[in-house]
Amino acid sequence: MRRAIDRTLLKSLLGLASVVELRDPYTGGHSWRVGQFSKCLAAKAGLDPEQVFLAQLGGFLHDLGKVGIPESILRKPGRLTEEEFALIKTHPLVGADLLADHPLADLAIDAVRFHHERVDGRGYPDGLTGEDSPVISRIVAIADAFDAMTSTRSYRQAMPLEKAIAILMAERGRQFDGAFVDSFVELYQAGDVLPHIVGHSDHDQRLAGCPGCGAKMAVPRSAVNGDRIYCRVCGGLNRLEREDDGWDAFPLGGMPNPAALRPSPETEVQDEILAAIPPVRKSFFVGRLSAMIGVQ
Ligand SMILES: [Fe+2]
Repeated sequence: MRRAIDRTLLKSLLGLASVVELRDPYTGGHSWRVGQFSKCLAAKAGLDPEQVFLAQLGGFLHDLGKVGIPESILRKPGRLTEEEFALIKTHPLVGADLLADHPLADLAIDAVRFHHERVDGRGYPDGLTGEDSPVISRIVAIADAFDAMTSTRSYRQAMPLEKAIAILMAERGRQFDGAFVDSFVELYQAGDVLPHIVGHSDHDQRLAGCPGCGAKMAVPRSAVNGDRIYCRVCGGLNRLEREDDGWDAFPLGGMPNPAALRPSPETEVQDEILAAIPPVRKSFFVGRLSAMIGVQ
């Protein structure tokens, strides 16, 4: 029963990530990838299963405060002005405020609030240094930056993996936690983990390039040859065609049908997180929940 309640509450929390993805479509699948990178990094660093789960959950939800940022700024193709960047920098606290009243807020609050802190103290919103920033947020900071660098955005192309890794190493002990950077580099050197996440929006599901605007579209796990896919960036309607290891998209013109607007990849990736809930322990979910609702 308690487990059922926890799953229901967690599902309501995960739904918030879909809202962010729908509003900021250029980052297609960013939540899933940051969740995956965070999970793999936490496991590689030897953290216990509960921390690994919290890293995946925190990575998935970290940017939920972006719902409070004007779309004109989120989608701006050029460089941000100082004033626009000041607005972007509010998203960790906006996210923390949005989470505050959720019964499971404390499972994700560290990642949401502190993922832009830097170990040298030059991050935001609090300028925390070193280990004053929570473990989960130091992991998510690396996962988030790596995905930002290896994804195509409205203002630049994706960078090769090795270049993004070199930047993480250069920022070791400055922007990023040194020990976690080392673990991430080990993940990269192992070879088979990161390439299955970069450029994907789900397991074995590569993003498809929009022929109209070049943005990357998240393809649902259930997609089959000939399905229609709507580009949420330019509004173009496209037809999907299976390629050797991904999808090609061809322009169709016209309006999307209601089914094309359904955020189906999000429900599938949410189910993956629900399935990853570690066994309930009093000190974890039940303890947290009981404390919050005043039950012993
Ligand atoms: Fe962020």
